[in-house]
Amino acid sequence: MKFFIDTANLDQIREAHDLGVLDGVTTNPSLMAKEGIKGEAAILKHYADICDIVDGDVSAEVFSTDFKSIVEEGKKLAAIHPNIVVKVPMIKEGVKAIKWFSENGIRTNCTLVFSAGQAILAAKAGAAYVSPFIGRIDDSNWDGVELIAQISQIYSLQGFKTEILAASIRSALHIVKCAEVGADVCTCPLDSILGLLKHPLTDIGLAKFLDDAKKM
Ligand code: E4P
Repeated sequence: MKFFIDTANLDQIREAHDLGVLDGVTTNPSLMAKEGIKGEAAILKHYADICDIVDGDVSAEVFSTDFKSIVEEGKKLAAIHPNIVVKVPMIKEGVKAIKWFSENGIRTNCTLVFSAGQAILAAKAGAAYVSPFIGRIDDSNWDGVELIAQISQIYSLQGFKTEILAASIRSALHIVKCAEVGADVCTCPLDSILGLLKHPLTDIGLAKFLDDAKKM
């Protein structure tokens, strides 16, 4: 399973990259706005800066909602760097655009996916990645990990090549559960990645080893 970091914060991207386990980055308009990125030039530069740090796929989301504008915006994003993956919302015009991008050599990440039916449509249109939002599903009293399991079963039965990118991760446990049920990628906040390190027995064991090391 690949690890992407879900942020537009360059310091956090560097920190995850320095850990040596980072395979890519996802962003969205909310994450970009949080970093104060405004205007087309600044947006394109910020994605280029991310691509300079990480040698892996970087999802850059369009904010157009009609086919023609999504295609124009996506072409500009894809031109920034070969690792840019154009992130397109699961709407009718978005599905049409994903199909166009897949026929024109531009990889896409279909975002805002909340059902297996939407995931089938994204795969049929040729998305490189599909992003089910498991945390937001859990927030609505449904089971996000169950959706990943369902999509994973459907994709493997049907031979779909689209990679399942579990998004909206809220905890280290979410990452483990997504790995168990066949997610190809987890995109996580830095805290969830670092949360995988934690176990009290590791801390207790290390304290004892360091104590005994003084006697050596
Ligand atoms: C990433 O692809 C998604 O946009 C992101 O994981 C959504 O996360 P959130 O539900 O925490 O906003």
